[in-house]
Amino acid sequence: PDDGLALTPPMGFNNWNSTQCRAEFDEEMVKGIADIFVDKGLKDAGYEYVNLDDCWALPARDADGKLVPDPARFPGGIKAVADYVHAKGLKLGIYTSAGTKTCNDAGFPGALGHEYSDARQFADWGVDYLKYDNCNNQGVDARQRYTTMRDALKAASATTGRPIVYSICEWGENRPWEWAADVGQLWRTTGDISDNWGSMLSIMKQNLPLARYAGPGHWNDPDMLEVGNGGMTDTEYRTHFSMWSVMAAPLLIGSDLRSASDETFEILGNEEVIAVDQDPLGKQGTVLSSEDGRWVVAKELADGSRAVALFNETGSPQRIATSAKAVGLPGAAAYTLRDLWRHKSYNTAGTISATVPAHGTVLVRVSADGDWAENPPAVELALD
Ligand code: DGJ
Repeated sequence: PDDGLALTPPMGFNNWNSTQCRAEFDEEMVKGIADIFVDKGLKDAGYEYVNLDDCWALPARDADGKLVPDPARFPGGIKAVADYVHAKGLKLGIYTSAGTKTCNDAGFPGALGHEYSDARQFADWGVDYLKYDNCNNQGVDARQRYTTMRDALKAASATTGRPIVYSICEWGENRPWEWAADVGQLWRTTGDISDNWGSMLSIMKQNLPLARYAGPGHWNDPDMLEVGNGGMTDTEYRTHFSMWSVMAAPLLIGSDLRSASDETFEILGNEEVIAVDQDPLGKQGTVLSSEDGRWVVAKELADGSRAVALFNETGSPQRIATSAKAVGLPGAAAYTLRDLWRHKSYNTAGTISATVPAHGTVLVRVSADGDWAENPPAVELALD
């Protein structure tokens, strides 16, 4: 929508991928994540939203039809959590479904038919972001269901003065990329991600062809990050994070940072990779080639440079190559190649290539300002 919200893809945290509905999803967790965002530099790196997923409410509304936070998880209520998060300079997200109930078997209330009162309640609590799921939708037209909540959020935030980012979560079932740019700031393009290589890869492949639909304020959402959840290697998690950034995807951390490894923090906190995701031009990268699992994906950036992912889908090392010309850069005597994982710069006459480990990604930023005196030739490190 044309409302100035989410001009770059939203960044933050959501508990779902790490806790689902288990008891550790509670006020302590949410506050703990907010603390870590500030203390570990993630807030400075751009992470902003701390988002609650399914199972925060009690199954029954109160006598006035209002939603009731589960007192076992959120003894102080949602407003208290929002206040805590806001005091840290962060924002709070919440969740419900565009249906009669959410997805969980316990039967938590959905907002279908309650859009205006639920939106008002969220706004009164100080909520800054709503993820609106698709379960129990009673077969009501998706565009209609999601548009009603858009209007309800708009009305509610007009009374509080606090804008609410709106995340459409209908799993790509109704081709939201064709109609949702005027409805929400992001829309899921696929079913749920799980913490394994095959799932991440399949979601990536479904999301890549949708590049032309993404832009400032309206993003494709290939689901939340699994980085740090333990089902992939760190090489695979770097690929996950690289590809989500090249796709200008929302970067919603899905691991419990209270027990995250240094490696996880290093991946999620890589500001050079985050800058690719958050580039103000807001273009999703496109596939230049994908021969035999050797992928070249390039993203145009605001300063005229290109982010180039050399991604190896295969189980053995592969040489993957492209050129400055092929990624759309103008002719130049030399190009700078900045390796965004090794944090080193090289010089090249135009070849962009690397021997990429199995399931790995070499992510570079290439600009037409090379200088042979300044940087070593790219041949010195895997890149030649
Ligand atoms: C389905 C969504 O796609 C997930 O991200 C998560 O929100 C669950 N529902 C919660 O029930």
